[in-house]
Amino acid sequence: MTQVYNFSSGPAVLPREVMLAAQAEFTDWHGSGMSVMEMSHRGREFTQIITEAEADLRKLLGVPSGYKILFMQGGAHFQFAMLPLNLTQPDDTIDFVDTGHWSRIAIKEARRYAKVHLAAVGDGSGIPAEADWQRSKGAAYLHYCSNETIGGVEFPFIPQSDVPLVCDMSSNILSRPLDVSRFGLIYGGAQKNIGPSGLTLVIVRDDLLGHARSETPTMLDYQIHAAADSLYNTPPTYAIYIAGLVFKWLLDRGGLVAMEQQNIEKASMLYETLDASGFYSCPVERPYRSRMNVPFRLADERLDDAFLEGAKARGLLQLKGHRSVGGMRASIYNAMPVEGVKALCDYLRDFVRTHG
Ligand SMILES: Cc1ncc(COP(=O)(O)O)c(C=O)c1O
Repeated sequence: MTQVYNFSSGPAVLPREVMLAAQAEFTDWHGSGMSVMEMSHRGREFTQIITEAEADLRKLLGVPSGYKILFMQGGAHFQFAMLPLNLTQPDDTIDFVDTGHWSRIAIKEARRYAKVHLAAVGDGSGIPAEADWQRSKGAAYLHYCSNETIGGVEFPFIPQSDVPLVCDMSSNILSRPLDVSRFGLIYGGAQKNIGPSGLTLVIVRDDLLGHARSETPTMLDYQIHAAADSLYNTPPTYAIYIAGLVFKWLLDRGGLVAMEQQNIEKASMLYETLDASGFYSCPVERPYRSRMNVPFRLADERLDDAFLEGAKARGLLQLKGHRSVGGMRASIYNAMPVEGVKALCDYLRDFVRTHG
């Protein structure tokens, strides 16, 4: 098979070393004679896998004591409902910062359960100045999305907040060091920087547990999952195992400081190539440009199909932008090697020479 580079926004490319390690022990995990897929989630072997995964994630992110790590299901979408059900009563207000598509999906769901106040609304090109945010008095929490996967808008800072700060980090968690102590709750679907889809990560401060509304379904109560160490019911065992391999892969490579350096290098190379072309355009202002998801447009959208076909012929896959915005998008998560971004930049320049 020829070398391909997969720029999917998620489920996304996973580290090759992780895939090969999983392949090597696919039918026999560490001499157990079983695939991880075939093991009881309460057995000795899987207990070791989930315990190590949690310990490695704590090390990677420097998760302080006083926070629980939950391996859950249902994707970020379940969190959109779980958050208000666990952290509000119907008369409470939630402050939201709206920076794009995923902020708005979270807002829409929250409105079903509580009052929503928009503290700030972005126009897709960046993030409104924090000093101008209109916060409500006594909000239950402040919610934002640290990286808008579709729009390519990323927070270069962590907001200040007197109320618990809640963040959808689905598409940039583990891409840079993080001060977890600034947050009440962090969540994200695994299918970008963590592992396979089906797993959802939640990191929650202890004092936010145990406040679910009485009608909250058992499976949507954070406290239930925290008390059972993520084993209340059968968790997505294979996805947790792969996530554990990804955490070890990150630790072996110098952790999140090293990962951030590489992500800066990749993103700079790509944005510089786009900006220098005079042919491609990016919708996001420089300080807020995502290091993970790079949306761009061609000068003439009638060339989009030719662009995608030419890319595919070079093994550059899944560059089509989200259906809601069109254009192109290159997702360059942790597992995208620098060579992949170089190959894309070469193609971007060659395409301008032949079609520009
Ligand atoms: C930032 C962000 N939030 C939420 C979601 C929704 O995630 P899920 O499909 O896991 O519910 C996505 C999916 O791509 C996302 O990128």
